[in-house]
Amino acid sequence: MLDPFVRLLLFILPAYVANAAPVVLGGLFPIDGGRRAWDGRPYLGSSKTWLGLAGGLVAGLLAAVLEAHLLIGTPYDLWAGQGSWYLLTGLLLSAGALAGDLLGSFAKRRLGLGAGQASWLLDQLPFVLVAMLAVLPLGVTFQFEPLPLAALLVLTVVLHRAANWLAHRSGLKKVPW
Ligand code: CTP
Ligand code: MG
Repeated sequence: MLDPFVRLLLFILPAYVANAAPVVLGGLFPIDGGRRAWDGRPYLGSSKTWLGLAGGLVAGLLAAVLEAHLLIGTPYDLWAGQGSWYLLTGLLLSAGALAGDLLGSFAKRRLGLGAGQASWLLDQLPFVLVAMLAVLPLGVTFQFEPLPLAALLVLTVVLHRAANWLAHRSGLKKVPW
């Protein structure tokens, strides 16, 4: 159980990094440009920015490169020594994480929650779910065993809460979620 879970964590890491990086590498150039949807509320809100997307993508890719350097040649090598697979999955995981985060914010706005307002599960899960969907076309299956997957979702909620609390405490984020 532990080994598949560790591999799953290593696999998903670029998505975590891409989701976290915009807190420090984002904040400029709102994607929705302040425009409002049919319900009169913002499409995404001021927290979702182009700079955040760019920063998240670069950081997620860097995480993938770092993993390739550290893991190839060890028992935790995820892709049989193939650096290009680290890059490709890292790219898809990062893009998926960022897209999932936008989807979560879009859903929050439609529910009438303002940017930065807390929402259980919509704050923590869309990024990781869409990241995993994004790699499905590659035919990658090892990470989708039910038990490690369930554990990953629980851990993601806990880690996301903890990371955001820390980011708030250290002055990086206005709200602790
Ligand atoms: N951020 C960004 N671009 C993104 C995502 C995040 O610039 N695509 C930055 C913003 O500065 C944002 C911070 O990262 O304030 C934290 O992101 P998040 O917690 O997702 O934003 P919230 O303020 O909670 O907004 P929402 O209610 O839409 O989740
Ligand atoms: Mg949030």
